[in-house]
Amino acid sequence: MKSEQKFKIKGGQELKGEIRVNGAKNSALKILASTVLTDQEIIIKNFPFIEDTQRMLELLEKLGAKIKQNKEKKEVIVSPGGIKNGRLKGELVERLRASILLVGPLLAKFGEVNMTYPGGCLIGKRPIDIFLDGFKKMGAKIEWSDKGFKVFLNKSKLTGETIFFPKITVTGTEALMMTAVLAEGKTVLKNCAMEPEIKSLADYLNKNGADINGAGTPTITIKGVDKISAGTFEVIPDRIETGTFIMMGLACKSEITITNCIPDHLGAILPVLKKNGANLEIGKDFIRVKKGKMLRAVSVSTHEYPGFATDLQPPYTLLMTQANGVSLIHETIFEGRLFFTDQLNTMGSAIVMCDPHRVVVSGPTGLYGKTLTSPDLRAGITMVLAGMIAFGETTIENIYQIDRGYEDIDGRLNSLGASIERIK
Ligand code: EPZ
Repeated sequence: MKSEQKFKIKGGQELKGEIRVNGAKNSALKILASTVLTDQEIIIKNFPFIEDTQRMLELLEKLGAKIKQNKEKKEVIVSPGGIKNGRLKGELVERLRASILLVGPLLAKFGEVNMTYPGGCLIGKRPIDIFLDGFKKMGAKIEWSDKGFKVFLNKSKLTGETIFFPKITVTGTEALMMTAVLAEGKTVLKNCAMEPEIKSLADYLNKNGADINGAGTPTITIKGVDKISAGTFEVIPDRIETGTFIMMGLACKSEITITNCIPDHLGAILPVLKKNGANLEIGKDFIRVKKGKMLRAVSVSTHEYPGFATDLQPPYTLLMTQANGVSLIHETIFEGRLFFTDQLNTMGSAIVMCDPHRVVVSGPTGLYGKTLTSPDLRAGITMVLAGMIAFGETTIENIYQIDRGYEDIDGRLNSLGASIERIK
């Protein structure tokens, strides 16, 4: 079983060289879900071959799609023509939170979806109430059972409506935007998430016959169409990998160049790192981390895009254990995304948890290698970084969580000079 694999990491290696950022997990998962909206073949380039996208491909295959994968070319071809119904059942759905993204398109296409509850990582209760409220507003009915639920229509099509999100939700925005593409009439989504992956998805759908305006702003207007075609989609570089590698270079006090990235997509991350005193060269599609003075501690609050990304809070919290001073890390989005700091404290960090949303970090503190278990993918990669700067050897268990979002992470970091051994 993959989840019994471990990483053994020898700390203290200086890094040098270049690392290429992969296609964004949180873009690839959504374009895969959108293939259900059409019968035509889609070619996806710069595809990240990670566990989460493999699970989504397996789900599409189970639904009846034909999949062709070419890892060397970083390309996947999906032929969704074989999908004949909306039965989303079983362990695959429970393992992948993003499976909820399939419900809307399947509902729009077949008028009925049967689904077990979607799963995901441990960072917080992952509700789907906003999705279901949206489908109901557009005319769907919902029946519950102990294992899952059925969403269905008593009429031929969903109807466009104005939907005001009570909370900003990334996948909620994407799910309802995609669903509205095939609804009758106009849908207006308000209080939307503004992540770059959302605009990238909307641009692709518009290129293939959809009529979406405002993606990337708080208000998105979708005029329903009868059908859309499919084409080629290029996955945008992963801004979370980019930010993670910058913080890795800084934590390892090394000089590395991060290539194939879009610095603009980092939002508030770069201004914060500037306040920390990080010595960075920002290019058009690369970022160079250079050696500099010890970082200053700077407090942050996570916020929806373009604020400080919650997915970069864990590596930043680790980085603050190496910075001079005291910082307050306020994780405003998820209630379970700071508990990994207990494990950093076993290595020697000085992090005090004030409540599930706030920790106070005092630095700098030396870290000593320990055995850790990754609870979710962003805490998992943070433990890898901790092992890379700790004295001695660190073992990380349950690395399936890390492989969910980072392709060949040991191979890529070892090529920079890290010392990570994957124990099967
Ligand atoms: C997306 O998750 C990302 N996942 C997450 O990345 C990311 O951390 C998160 O957005 C925030 O940026 C994907 O894109 C696949 P939300 P998502 O819906 O959409 C509440 C990673 O590490 N909410 O924006 O599931 C929810 O509880 C992952 O790659 C409801 O209350 O997050 C949370 O408090 C982790 N009801 C808030 O909204 C709903 O129906 C934001 O969650 C839906 C969400």
